[in-house]
Amino acid sequence: MYVCVCKNVTERQVRCAVSQGHCSMKSLCSELGVMGQCGKCAKHTRELLRQWQHERPVATTA
Ligand code: FES
Repeated sequence: MYVCVCKNVTERQVRCAVSQGHCSMKSLCSELGVMGQCGKCAKHTRELLRQWQHERPVATTA
């Protein structure tokens, strides 16, 4: 499913970029170009980022 139609970026590409350390909206924008034109993909990109942050195990220090 496309997240950003302006830049032809898919949900899979966003998830892959996040898993590689692009864990902020700014970083995703520079890596994939999302939100670089009309900006309509911002909401969906933010949702994917939040979803990944909830799924990600939290590292704790003892
Ligand atoms: S849909 Fe992403 S910038 Fe237009």
